Amino acid sequence: MNQFFLSSFNNSPRRIDQKLLPRKLNHFPTLLSLIQRLTGFDARPYRDSTLKRRLELRLQATGCRNIQEYINYIRNNQEEAFNFKENLLIHVTSFFRDRAVFTFLERKVFPDWLDKLASRQRRLLRVWSVGCASGEEPYSLAMILHQPTLKRGIHPVILATDVSPRVLAKAREAIFRQRELRNIPKFYRQIYFSEIKPGIWRLCPELRRLVIFRQHDLLQEEVPGFFDFIVLRNLLIFLRPEAQEQVLRKIIQSLVGGGLLLLGNSERINPNGSLELLSARHCLYQKRQASSQGEVFPPKRGKK
Ligand SMILES: C[S@@+](CC[C@H](N)C(=O)[O-])C[C@H]1O[C@@H](n2cnc3c(N)ncnc32)[C@H](O)[C@@H]1O
Repeated sequence: MNQFFLSSFNNSPRRIDQKLLPRKLNHFPTLLSLIQRLTGFDARPYRDSTLKRRLELRLQATGCRNIQEYINYIRNNQEEAFNFKENLLIHVTSFFRDRAVFTFLERKVFPDWLDKLASRQRRLLRVWSVGCASGEEPYSLAMILHQPTLKRGIHPVILATDVSPRVLAKAREAIFRQRELRNIPKFYRQIYFSEIKPGIWRLCPELRRLVIFRQHDLLQEEVPGFFDFIVLRNLLIFLRPEAQEQVLRKIIQSLVGGGLLLLGNSERINPNGSLELLSARHCLYQKRQASSQGEVFPPKRGKK
């Protein structure tokens, strides 16, 4: 039985227009292997409901009447395979998404947690924003961590990864339209952004330097090291249960004892023995300290 369970499984998926889709997904394996051959991306771990919804959008965009026609279309227009992939990945994000979570971290979690790290002479805080899309999530983390870590002599390094090179290119620029800044608390907007053209804003270099972007496929690649804080929001919901379980295993392994794991608001899990639920409302978990692991970081492994 699955050790992990997303509460969102209980939500019935949004109804989709079945007119354009085959009743059975007979042609899906053909489509997915074609996509993999052309883009290198394996879409099989994504849920059928996600695949169907995204396929429907691509059928509409390309004017294909059914999946068979769409497969032929891709054979003649290989760029469409990349469009399918990007469309499947759903890059929706925003600064301070679910603002209450960020306020909770800032006010209720970080003060004590960072004090503890500082009292152990920790100088480096390793954060991983997984599936970071166009950067709003790791930059929001940088904003709420900057002052509290500076005050305690800790240097935060935020690794932000995504499988999509397209969104990472936007993320690295750190340039946003005014309306994209609307969720950012005024104080942060004023000190961390400057207007480079009318209505176009850029995050300041000091915060940009805290975030390192890297292309990484969470499903296919090794985890990129050990972390004190992992933020994995709004990605698990798109995966099949087996893929979720595989991902969560990896994520928990790469979290140090005492480290925090933040999931999306509808991604509550029944953790196994190594995690403790800190806040059900905000889907925040903490890895228990392993008895043999007194340090916040485990001993360094050879090559990362
Ligand atoms: C809905 S966005 C969530 C963005 C951000 N975490 C948030 O909550 O606002 C999901 C992101 O996960 C990324 N993603 C999906 N599958 C992935 C994978 N296998 N490895 C890494 N990133 C993936 C997508 O490209 C997309 O940018």
